[in-house]
Amino acid sequence: RLDNRVKIVEVGPRDGLQNEKNIVPLATKIELIERLAKTGLQTIEAGSFVAPKWVPQMANSSEILSHILTTPPPSPHPLTYSFLAPNMKGLSNAFSILDANPSSFSTESNPSPSKPSLEMAVFASATETFSQKNLNASIAASLETFRAVISAAKETPYNLRVRGYISVVLGCPFEGYDVSPHRVAEIATELLEMGVDEIALGDTTGMGTAPRTKDLLNCLRSAGIRNEDVAMHFHDTYGQALVNTAVALEHGIRTFDASVSGLGGCPYSPGATGNVATEDVVYFMESLGMDAGVDLDGVAEVGEWISKELGRGNGSTVGRAVLGR
Ligand code: HMG
Ligand code: MG
Repeated sequence: RLDNRVKIVEVGPRDGLQNEKNIVPLATKIELIERLAKTGLQTIEAGSFVAPKWVPQMANSSEILSHILTTPPPSPHPLTYSFLAPNMKGLSNAFSILDANPSSFSTESNPSPSKPSLEMAVFASATETFSQKNLNASIAASLETFRAVISAAKETPYNLRVRGYISVVLGCPFEGYDVSPHRVAEIATELLEMGVDEIALGDTTGMGTAPRTKDLLNCLRSAGIRNEDVAMHFHDTYGQALVNTAVALEHGIRTFDASVSGLGGCPYSPGATGNVATEDVVYFMESLGMDAGVDLDGVAEVGEWISKELGRGNGSTVGRAVLGR
């Protein structure tokens, strides 16, 4: 991969919508995914197989996965669609959709350039309190659950790619700044040993600062974790996401999560606002001569459209500027 190529993982349809109070109609979610698929984005996090009692907004993720497989969104290139699965129940719910559509997606063991690929994501936490609030389990217990999920996802016949999130890596809404980078490195190492293809470092409540981001990434490097195995997942609650992105980019990270029009938040993080806006990240990357392969005007239009659908203001500064010019 050339050094000026960056990958933007669009998490709007999952992280962006999961915190919306009113249930967003299935048709709107599907239209959002279809519109995003046309902008050049390569990976879209499309839903979450979690307990509907915990996150009712994600309850129709089976229908979303089914729609993607039976009617793949038109796109200039095949996309990877990602779904969260915190336990075997979530994975088997996803698998029942895959079993019904076995030849409609590409797998690592059966790659097809014309079919979408799928990825499952597990999500650990860097603090015990956040782990309890988000998963009703200790960090150790959640990792044991993930071990089973990861190996089942990687088994034949599907051999799916798996992403391993770690939340609150730069600050926790319950334990403050008392998050050890060494603990994050340990959890990341454990997840990689279990077989995840990528670690996504979650700054869940946007508490991260430039020096803390640098320290964390240096600590991961010292622990032997490679930059190509790491993605950054910045929320922009304190407006530091692009600064932290610059630090991570300089460190050598090339995968960044973002949410169209800055939608989002985590239902188990009081005060957390959205992810950094996709439009802002694309504009920032372009300004540095980096190539994200995403059409800025196109994604800005999607941001404006979904903001109107949800009856909220457009949360992307760049999106508003681009549309106003
Ligand atoms: P629990 O209550 O301990 O689970 O929750 P349980 O095993 O006792 O089951 C309770 C009920 O849920 C049972 O149903 C299960 O069948 C059902 P009942 O018998 O009562 O009718 N259930 C499920 N249903 C569907 N799908 C499933 C599933 N699992 C159980 N997968 C559990 C444990 C993990 C399920 C729960 O804590 C949970 O779903 N947590 C998810 C919370 C969540 O989605 N948080 C947001 C995503 S993470 C995030 O946003 C951070 C991130 O963006 C990165 C960052 O920003 O840092 C990724
Ligand atoms: Mg998040």
